[in-house]
Amino acid sequence: MNNNKPIGIFDSGIGGTSIWREIHHLLPDEQTIYLADSKNAPYGQKSKNEIIALCMKNTDLLLQMDCKLIVVACNTATTNAIKELRAKYEVPFIGIEPAIKPAALNSKTQKIGILATQGTLISELFNKTAEQFHTTKILEQVGHGLVQLIEKGQINSPAMTELLHSYLQPMIAADIDYLVLGCSHYPYLIPQIKKILPDHIHIIDSGQAVARQTQNLLNKEVGFTNLKNSKPVFYTNTDSTVLKEILKNEYEVIEKDF
Ligand code: DGL
Repeated sequence: MNNNKPIGIFDSGIGGTSIWREIHHLLPDEQTIYLADSKNAPYGQKSKNEIIALCMKNTDLLLQMDCKLIVVACNTATTNAIKELRAKYEVPFIGIEPAIKPAALNSKTQKIGILATQGTLISELFNKTAEQFHTTKILEQVGHGLVQLIEKGQINSPAMTELLHSYLQPMIAADIDYLVLGCSHYPYLIPQIKKILPDHIHIIDSGQAVARQTQNLLNKEVGFTNLKNSKPVFYTNTDSTVLKEILKNEYEVIEKDF
């Protein structure tokens, strides 16, 4: 089965490009359209209803662009709105959730840390998943301020180092051996985080799992493209400088009001 329509991907901003990267790496021929809703970032402090409305706005635009499948490349959006999106639209959705399961199953100390937004950590979906692993101690930390600094391009700033130290030191002291990155912006912080964490603490995120899930869905239901040399397109509703930087100026970035 072939389907040459594009895959739509959206996030509250530039962070979901970490997920896009994994999808593009696994499925390089697929045409991808990415929406960075940076004007409305961060989603993590908004109400559930506000997040649902923003997700529907992004979905409507991707459907106007004829997408065959939508990847919600944002943990906050997925944990607050995926049910409502699936109920309203016929297009298939893939969401992203914090990878608690592999961390809990592999942890030797049975203590894991999770860094995510407030919206994700208070969501029903996240708490239901966490309950399944109640024998593991899960240290939750809201990454206040991290998304804002990443959106400003201040990944390696002293302010970022200071925030990360304050969030990670208590987890190190509590003897975690896995740190789950529960926000698609945070993989961009891995080099910084590695400088703070001792070597025995593993860092995991959900990017590769989402890419594999996308591949499975194309295989089973949606269909792969049979075109070659696809060109990814990125849209942002703010100034495009930081998004271009994070993409190393390799792809087309369009500023658009949405
Ligand atoms: N990338 C989003 C996530 O995965 C960031 C959320 C936000 O905008 O606060 O949760």
